[in-house]
Amino acid sequence: MSDLLIRGRVLTFVREPEGIDDTASYRFFEDGAVLVSSGKIAAVGPYGDVAKQADGGVPIADHRPHLVLPGLIDTHLHFPQTQAIASYGAQLLEWLNTYIFVEEQKFRAPEHAAFIAGRFTDELLSNGTTTAVAYCSVHPESVDAFFTAAEERNMLMIGGKVMMDRNAPDALRDTPERGYDETKQLIARWHRRGRAHYAVSPRFAITSTPEQMEMSRALVAEHPDCYVQTHLSENRDEIAFATSLFPEAKDYTDIYARYGLLGRKTLLGHCIHLSDREISVLAETGAVGVFCPTSNLFLGSGLFDRDRFDKLGARHSVATDVGAGTSFSMLETMGEAYKVLHLQGQRLSPLNSFYMMTLGNARALDLEDRIGSLHAGADADIVVLDSRAKPAMELRMQVASSLAEELFVLQTMGDDRSVTEVYVAGKPMQSGRVEVRRDVPR
Ligand code: GUN
Ligand code: FE
Repeated sequence: MSDLLIRGRVLTFVREPEGIDDTASYRFFEDGAVLVSSGKIAAVGPYGDVAKQADGGVPIADHRPHLVLPGLIDTHLHFPQTQAIASYGAQLLEWLNTYIFVEEQKFRAPEHAAFIAGRFTDELLSNGTTTAVAYCSVHPESVDAFFTAAEERNMLMIGGKVMMDRNAPDALRDTPERGYDETKQLIARWHRRGRAHYAVSPRFAITSTPEQMEMSRALVAEHPDCYVQTHLSENRDEIAFATSLFPEAKDYTDIYARYGLLGRKTLLGHCIHLSDREISVLAETGAVGVFCPTSNLFLGSGLFDRDRFDKLGARHSVATDVGAGTSFSMLETMGEAYKVLHLQGQRLSPLNSFYMMTLGNARALDLEDRIGSLHAGADADIVVLDSRAKPAMELRMQVASSLAEELFVLQTMGDDRSVTEVYVAGKPMQSGRVEVRRDVPR
């Protein structure tokens, strides 16, 4: 039984593009369609071919002339920092102490956590993001709020309670035992319930004692199916402080290596000031460096060196890092990624940008079978993008002559206004903006 036929200009990647002319890296159907059945993709291709496979009378959502892509993926952000975006004038450690460790205390109250979780999740969807990897606060209630909001919307979301037992206000500190016990309980409650995945989340080396790092090691060893997320090498003062707290470690990366925290399911926010040795350790362990361009610019942290990651064979992904990141939009994030790389003489093609926020990020999460590309059997998480959403974009598009150029306009000028619809497991989440017709598709 087919549930919905989504018609539009369908674009999906099959591998990482090797440059702006790499037309073999994607499949594009100018008049294309995605057939959805029971929350999954049943078929993708030219409209005529896909329509033949649909049952008569299937509803059709006709999005022409807009682009139909896999839902966008954000691999690192902080749900309790939703109201802390645009906190003025500080670099990382001062910013954490002045703004963030104040803001996150509010999440002790379940009503506040639930309110922000709902708004946060809706904001992701408004921006076309259907999967995100989020830090919650130290309070287990914040994790319940986060996964409840995700479950209500049927989103594939990854998250976890931050563990932090030093260098933070009393009200935000757990203990090694409490961090361990609460994490265990949350994993039991949420991991792989519906589409939820848990991420064991020691905040970073500065806020965890060696005892808590040991507990993190135990959690990761006991739950190899869970993700691990933390921060690494974002800011020079942070690096100096972290390495002073673990003098036996060779460098910042070695702190996490010593506690068994590096592996294919590990996401390391920032990774800006790493030595070749450290990047090589990430390559050997399969850990993922997470590029957070708007955050790195906003906090004045530095520039992520993508070419060095590629040269040394280390995996990487891209993310907003809200609330140091200044936008929920992955389009705006890729616009800033382009500039960060350009400043270092590196070129990010629009094909690569769109690959990164879809299939690339799905691969970084080892979830490419489920999300990040449009293929039969995948979850029907889909975004519809309008490259003429603003008058200035419409003018610019009048002279655009290729798909790559259109994508570049979208990432350079686009934002949530370009998202005309988003589907989560086949269900439209921005009701009413598109007319759904019920007729026989022939
Ligand atoms: N390092 C440790 N915690 C944080 C955080 O909340 N945001 C950022 N950008 N870096 C961090
Ligand atoms: Fe972060």
